[in-house]
Amino acid sequence: MRQRIILDVDTGVDDSLALLYLLASPDAEIAGIASTAGNVPAAQVAINNLAWLELARAPEIEVALGAADPLEIPLRTTEDTHGPHGVGYAELPTPIRRISTRSAAQMWVDLVRRHPGELVGLCTGPLTNLALALREEPDLPRLLRRLVIMGGAFNHPGNTTPTTEWNIHVDPEAAKVVFDAFSFAPPDRRPIVCALDITESIEMRPTHLIRLAERAGSHPIETVSPADPPEARSVASNPIIRHLTDAVRFYFDFHDGYDLGYLAHMHDPFAAAVALDPALARTRPATVDIELEGALTRATTVADWAGIWGRPPNADIVVGTDPVRFFDRMIARIGDHARALYPGQPVGDPVTRLR
Ligand code: RIB
Ligand code: CA
Repeated sequence: MRQRIILDVDTGVDDSLALLYLLASPDAEIAGIASTAGNVPAAQVAINNLAWLELARAPEIEVALGAADPLEIPLRTTEDTHGPHGVGYAELPTPIRRISTRSAAQMWVDLVRRHPGELVGLCTGPLTNLALALREEPDLPRLLRRLVIMGGAFNHPGNTTPTTEWNIHVDPEAAKVVFDAFSFAPPDRRPIVCALDITESIEMRPTHLIRLAERAGSHPIETVSPADPPEARSVASNPIIRHLTDAVRFYFDFHDGYDLGYLAHMHDPFAAAVALDPALARTRPATVDIELEGALTRATTVADWAGIWGRPPNADIVVGTDPVRFFDRMIARIGDHARALYPGQPVGDPVTRLR
């Protein structure tokens, strides 16, 4: 059965793979894309979304612009992590498609009201626009069929401060609005939360890019490496593979620069795969709240697993998965889709990559 998805992203490198994964999935239909400020400003997120849709020859899908800033604090972006434009070293063609006339928050509200109980929400960026939508439509948790959130860190170190994860850190007030709003949701409406605890086990490596290129029938098959200079660019014959390689290589460099290895944590495409198939994840219910006051811990996601607070669970936190099964599925779907989109591209320039 096709899942109709409201996708809320801060496109970013791994958000880009989440979008491509959904476009490549026969069991997914994107009802609309909310462009949320986070990795890069909202306007750049929207451009990135439109550019990937055009490159992927996607049907007309609404891309709405989110709020410029978080609910209560100035925006903080992270171009050092995702590249100057949010898509690593990729230089995506400037899109012709235009953004929607309605805001991201309004798109959330209108879509859930028009399709009550049918849509799956997937948030892979800060929760600013979902929080704004909840303020306009408090019944949103009941009107959504399911919500999946990439965010937070529970029994795991943060990636932004010692205890905080980026999406929550950018807009902790919004995260509190969202988790409070789901505090009385019935068990089948609790958000599925893909936190760093699990997403930092989803480690993409150069061999995964090779498998993607092979599956797409792209040439030449390139091996990216830490020795590649920043100005190197893929010459893969398949445009999806070419731009994906340039995007992900920046993310490899970033993780390598922090001694995490020449790899990239694929937070967002994992959350997308769970949104389409929750059976990929083992979850545990907990009551989640957001620390807003701590001098050292502000924006920390706190999980009460044992009911100490006496409040009902408002989240199902992913505590287990099979990364190999996820990568097999992601590579098959994106690789097959890339091949179908660009079947007969001439063999890429056989000379070695631009240095
Ligand atoms: O902490 C990881 C999350 O922050 C991912 O969604 C990444 O894209 C960034 O938004
Ligand atoms: Ca993201």
